[in-house]
Amino acid sequence: KEIFLKDYKAPHYAFEKVNLKFVLGEEKTLVTSNIRVLPRSSDGAPLILDGERLNLVTLNINGSPVPEGSYKFNSRQLNITSLPTSPFDMEIVTEIEPQNNTSLEGLYKSSGNFCTQCEAEGFRKITYFQDRPDVMSKFTTRIEADKTLYPVLLSNGNLVDEGDLADGKHFAVWDDPWTKPCYLFALVAGQLVSRDDSFTTMSGRKVALRIWTPPQDIPKTVHAMKSLQLAMKWDEEVFGLEYDLDLFNIVAVPDFNMGAMENKSLNIFNSRLVLASPETATDADYAAIEGVIGHEYFHNWTGNRVTCRDWFQLSLKEGLTVFRDQEFSSDMGSRGVKRIADVGRLRTAQFSQDAGPMAHPVRPHSYIKMDNFYTVTVYEKGAEVVRMYQTLLGNAGFRKGMDLYFQRHDGQAVTCEEFLAAMFDANNVKFPTFPLWYAQAGTPTLTVTTSYDAGAQTFTIKCKQEVPPTPGQLKKEPMLLPLAVGLLDSHGHDMRLTSVKDGTSLHNLTSVDGDYTTTAVLHVDKAEQEFTFVNITEKPVPSLLRNFSAPVRLVSDVTNDDLFFLLAHDSDQFNRWEAGQTLSRKLMLDLISAQQKGEDLSVDSAFIEGMRSTVMDSSLDKEFVAKCLTLPTESEIADLMDVADPDAIHNVRRFIIMEIATNMRDVLLKMVEANRSSATYDPSHVHRAQRALKNVALGYLAMLNEPEIIDLAVNENKNATNMTDQVSALAAICQNSGDARSKALAEFYEQWKDETLVMNKWLALQAMSNIPGNVENVRGLMEHPAFDIRNPNKVYSLIGGFCASAVNFHAKDGSGYTFLADVVLQLDKLNPQVASRMVSAFSRWRRFDEGRQALAKAQLERITSQDGLSDNVFEIASKSLAS
Ligand code: ARG
Ligand code: ZN
Repeated sequence: KEIFLKDYKAPHYAFEKVNLKFVLGEEKTLVTSNIRVLPRSSDGAPLILDGERLNLVTLNINGSPVPEGSYKFNSRQLNITSLPTSPFDMEIVTEIEPQNNTSLEGLYKSSGNFCTQCEAEGFRKITYFQDRPDVMSKFTTRIEADKTLYPVLLSNGNLVDEGDLADGKHFAVWDDPWTKPCYLFALVAGQLVSRDDSFTTMSGRKVALRIWTPPQDIPKTVHAMKSLQLAMKWDEEVFGLEYDLDLFNIVAVPDFNMGAMENKSLNIFNSRLVLASPETATDADYAAIEGVIGHEYFHNWTGNRVTCRDWFQLSLKEGLTVFRDQEFSSDMGSRGVKRIADVGRLRTAQFSQDAGPMAHPVRPHSYIKMDNFYTVTVYEKGAEVVRMYQTLLGNAGFRKGMDLYFQRHDGQAVTCEEFLAAMFDANNVKFPTFPLWYAQAGTPTLTVTTSYDAGAQTFTIKCKQEVPPTPGQLKKEPMLLPLAVGLLDSHGHDMRLTSVKDGTSLHNLTSVDGDYTTTAVLHVDKAEQEFTFVNITEKPVPSLLRNFSAPVRLVSDVTNDDLFFLLAHDSDQFNRWEAGQTLSRKLMLDLISAQQKGEDLSVDSAFIEGMRSTVMDSSLDKEFVAKCLTLPTESEIADLMDVADPDAIHNVRRFIIMEIATNMRDVLLKMVEANRSSATYDPSHVHRAQRALKNVALGYLAMLNEPEIIDLAVNENKNATNMTDQVSALAAICQNSGDARSKALAEFYEQWKDETLVMNKWLALQAMSNIPGNVENVRGLMEHPAFDIRNPNKVYSLIGGFCASAVNFHAKDGSGYTFLADVVLQLDKLNPQVASRMVSAFSRWRRFDEGRQALAKAQLERITSQDGLSDNVFEIASKSLAS
């Protein structure tokens, strides 16, 4: 059943207070829920409670059983009528079986411990409730369980009582003083120990910090704890936001559908985003841990203190919190490199979603299963929308908007309009077309043409904006997008920009400390529009869309010469990288059409020289250089083609890599030699950057498949003192099939077979391989002891990894499609959320040639015709077929 934003109605009943009691058992778990209910009108409307897979034991109102005729229920809802019109107490007792809950939603068991995941609609698998975020209550939770099996009992808020019970059992009572929606409820019970530390807030509150894991993992929680403390400090410094309880818990669990969850004072994390040691985690893992620990902590204000009215507003908390975690990571590491990574992800994953059958606005208009809308659009494009406020209003203006947002809405469940109103009201502005970013799906194309008038000393930028049609939204309106522009003089320096004409009005451009700026933010809000910079004394090279100031596809008339110039000189780090990427994209598309025509391929020497001078420029950040050396992804290129040709894209990308490796062999070798890690691992940016550059260089060299270089990679692998270097060297070796590959994989397995998170890397590396016919190898790995279809991380590594190799997933014979459909149908019976994420790999099937289309379509039809298919998979598969 499809749910629509326009149908939103406020609930008839408020839940003032909720007292929960859990009696945890091996066969049955008994849940007693006592709720103080406040009718919001006297019309005696029925109270509709959500519930799934629950066994109702008793239902009482004000102490007496509700008579048979006054309630009815089906598999999804409990409907109670003839209710008092004044406040009343309702008691519901239900029975559940967490040990058989493979969906990892609601209350379930992971490695013998009990844990919960309630967002979005999992609380209804625990007890009957108004499972919607605009119902906010104070929760008290009593947990009873066997003391030996479950020595640790945790829930939200403060521990107010604990003690022993008969029969080897014990109990704990937790009280959360803050009102919250039920999706923020959490419970954990099991054999866990904690790393304890503390943080003193700016107002002097000493907060106990605890990170809980199984005993053997405690040494791996140092980095997570440090990240948490840094995040708490950062939120005080940047946003003036302080933690609001005396205790903050994080629990790491091995079986978790998503990354992590911001439950009030009891965050639950996928263990891959908590546990790290230099030997077992890569630099990317360290960075992800820091970012996600920050993300979940930041939700305490953006999500928990101010929450969403309904799930259509998800980006209100997620877009904003992703923006906040991006800013946090930027301040902890390198701002430019972080921006490059974030935009890369947006462009590869979100732009392609926006161009496909699942395209939806940052605030969707409808959904069948909310879990399918925890998307790159809601998260990453949502974060770009928040970033645009900051670009338009300035940092200080943005902060004023945030302050007003909390001042107005603390303790409330609100909508995206309220956030927008706070931002605009605090700054006394109105941007009438900006709200469209929440309502219109699709990536706008911004076409820019420029001209210089030497006589008038003006430089004119002509903009054309188009938002493409998407499923269900054929007509679009132009929307306000900030276009950040700099102009470079012939020395490569930024020109001073003093004023710009927009139509008939002349705007002065001022920076905080002067009467000019070097980056102007143009407000593009019409389908066609012209901006003219005055007093421009020589023909400039324009640097357009600096720092990727709006989530658009930029098409411009900037020449290749200009791009090489920007690559060498732009003061905007993002655009410096982007100039190289634009050149690479052009080159790749040119070579693809050459290959399709059967012509010989060759790479222009200017391109190689551009790469070489970037690598040799010692003034540059090494991670930035590593990013510049990395060509656009195959999927990014596929999106730019009328008919995606995975084999041609792959061959061309490989060809360019070989050309670079051949022509720059000596420089690349030097990069490997000069950037080896010191013996003790240091996760800070400079060291991470060195490793990044060294490992990219090694990857290029290994493509040459020369015995001498394979030996080098084998040695790098053997002598590695950290996982970053070890797994990079292994990946370099694995690019070519042969003895070195099988030997390295076998040795790696022997070394790490007991470290489940490291085994995920081993699985992913083999799954993502572009070696022809790899599907058989992946089918084999599904039987390997290192794989477990019930563990989401394993599925994401092996199955997700396989789908990331376009040549194998889109193999001409359809073997990749058949394999994925087999897995999806098997998974759907166990875990619909994970199955649904996997089936999404099919969604771009119409981008390919007719042969592949027919094969993919047949598999999608095989999936949708399956009896008992979950709503999750049905929604993705049927929408993929429909559009
Ligand atoms: N709110 C979580 C976060 O921090 C994600 C929850 C995802 N839940 C889901 N059913 N997809 O982003
Ligand atoms: Zn989040």
